[in-house]
Amino acid sequence: MKTLTKEEILDSLKAVKDPDLHRDIVSLGMVKAVEVTNGRVSIHVELTTPACPLKEQIKADVRKAVSSLAGVQDVSVEMSSQVRQGGPALQQKTIPGVKNIIAVASGKGGVGKSTVCVNLAVALATMGAKVGLLDADIYGPNIPLMLGIPVGRRPGVTEDEKLIPIEACGLRVISMGVLVPPDSPMVWRGPMLHSAVTQFLQKVAWGELDYLFVDLPPGTGDVQLSLVQTVSVTGAVIVTTPQEVALMDVRKGIAMFQKTNVAILGVVENMSAFVCSHCGEETPIFSRGGGRTVAEKSGVPFLGEIPIDPRIREGGDTGRPFVTASPDSPAAKQFLAVAGVLAQQVSIVDILGSKAEVK
Ligand SMILES: Nc1ncnc2c1ncn2[C@@H]1O[C@H](COP(=O)(O)OP(=O)(O)O)[C@@H](O)[C@H]1O
Ligand SMILES: [Mg+2]
Repeated sequence: MKTLTKEEILDSLKAVKDPDLHRDIVSLGMVKAVEVTNGRVSIHVELTTPACPLKEQIKADVRKAVSSLAGVQDVSVEMSSQVRQGGPALQQKTIPGVKNIIAVASGKGGVGKSTVCVNLAVALATMGAKVGLLDADIYGPNIPLMLGIPVGRRPGVTEDEKLIPIEACGLRVISMGVLVPPDSPMVWRGPMLHSAVTQFLQKVAWGELDYLFVDLPPGTGDVQLSLVQTVSVTGAVIVTTPQEVALMDVRKGIAMFQKTNVAILGVVENMSAFVCSHCGEETPIFSRGGGRTVAEKSGVPFLGEIPIDPRIREGGDTGRPFVTASPDSPAAKQFLAVAGVLAQQVSIVDILGSKAEVK
């Protein structure tokens, strides 16, 4: 009997496509090793994110493709992950060590942007990614409270005079709220805002990060502009509630990022319905489905819906992010699902380029 070769196995793996990237896992460089001894095959596949929701599907497809070869006795598949850095277009203005910068924006305040940002960041960290959070809401820095950072805690400084981010809930965090006392009034003018944001990006020892989330202030103002001028942003997530007054501003937000050549990673609809914890009945307090419609009409991905759950607010107020405080609740599962889809969209932009059709 003819012996099975590595080449044959690699050839068979060319039939396995990454369902998001629509390319085979060999040409995507995801097959890291192939070993074969006496019909026993072992394969190492490296995914582009630890949060990949398609992990099991890809593993099953690999197993199926190889099992069909003559002479195969047994197949073992090892899965790992390595987050990619974006291509040349995203490497013009990088922060050393930071692979992806994700801007979290909203058309208006109070839609739960900071809440969604915190929970998505914590979700990705629990899945094994290295995650940072830059609170760029200079006037209303809520992130320290939401992550339970004690009032008065100040970041350290390195020898080369960079701020050392504060570790909280598995994230590396910098916020105006850890630099200035929380109740001191702050009057910022455009240029000062710009320098605060650039310092947060460039004068912080972020270290190695897969994803740096940036919680932007609401709207389309100076801080948004400073961010996209200072660094190459992988893409933006737009958070909205479903009612029409919020959705109108979503279109503006999308247009602003597109004008500055930043990919839209997707729209999240927050507070999409209230689910009664006693009877399970859903009440669409702020209506429902508008986020998906606006995403579809604008040709950008829809990342998912987060219901209204009083424990989400409680988690924010007590500094215990909801995804880890109530991990078994339906809303926490929604956050994890949205985090997975978001990570996929980041991989798509990294590998196919920011101008790619991200659908
Ligand atoms: N899905 C949700 N269910 C219940 N409360 C929420 C939800 N999302 C946000 N909140 C609460 O709504 C308020 C506003 O959220 P926040 O994240 O501060 O909004 P933004 O950053 O957009 O101004 C906070 O008190 C927060 O805890
Ligand atoms: Mg906020």
